[in-house]
Amino acid sequence: MITPRLKCIADRVKGNIAADIGTDHAYIPIYLIENGIVSRVISSDVRQGPLNIAEENIKKHNLSDKIETRLGDGLSVLKEGEADTVIIAGMGGQLICDIIETNINIARKSKLVLQPMNSQYELRKYLIEKNFKITNEDIAVEGFKVYNIIDAENGKQEKFKTDFEYQFPSYLSDHKYFKNLYDKKYREFTKVIKGLKKSSDSDEKKLLLYEYWLKELKKYESKRYS
Ligand SMILES: C[S@@+](CC[C@H](N)C(=O)[O-])C[C@H]1O[C@@H](n2cnc3c(N)ncnc32)[C@H](O)[C@@H]1O
Repeated sequence: MITPRLKCIADRVKGNIAADIGTDHAYIPIYLIENGIVSRVISSDVRQGPLNIAEENIKKHNLSDKIETRLGDGLSVLKEGEADTVIIAGMGGQLICDIIETNINIARKSKLVLQPMNSQYELRKYLIEKNFKITNEDIAVEGFKVYNIIDAENGKQEKFKTDFEYQFPSYLSDHKYFKNLYDKKYREFTKVIKGLKKSSDSDEKKLLLYEYWLKELKKYESKRYS
């Protein structure tokens, strides 16, 4: 039930009360309680179907007194400061930005553990532009899949020095799964460049950007193959 991705997310949670926004099966809340990481979890989803599944799983584990389910959109289910940690995982990076933006004052009052399925570049940019600090990043690997887990909290952080860093922050080059992330980014950049070169009305600006990212990524090539 608990996968490396979910465990990596759960292990970043701090405090007594966590909220899992977009909980679906409620695997993270169940793990958090069963492993004594927090004492209470608010488990929410915007759709009734996933919330029903969450409720069934919570009942099976006899945790209905410790995990409360709430139906609603994003952070609107929470009061400011109600949760020490807010988890938003397994969604697109742009949707995570939208969820934070819609209730930004609620987001500012908790530690955020974010696991975007894509658009990590846009999410890092959004967080730093909106005065959230990225306090830590982790990587989880499941087979060929590579996931970024981003911790953030209210606070000012200097902008990254280069645009490429929003794609691949230099601190991740020391991570044990650096090679997996390098390969994922290499595949992504080369695929987009190939597609753009093939296209009849190629987007020149986008092509130049991806070529720049690929060139920057290749600066880590010797480390990748060391
Ligand atoms: C792919 S599941 C991820 C489940 C779990 N968080 C995980 O990481 O395994 C995404 C869930 O987010 C929910 N969701 C999407 N948009 C949401 C929103 N604005 N507010 C709350 N939940 C949302 C979906 O209904 C779905 O159950």
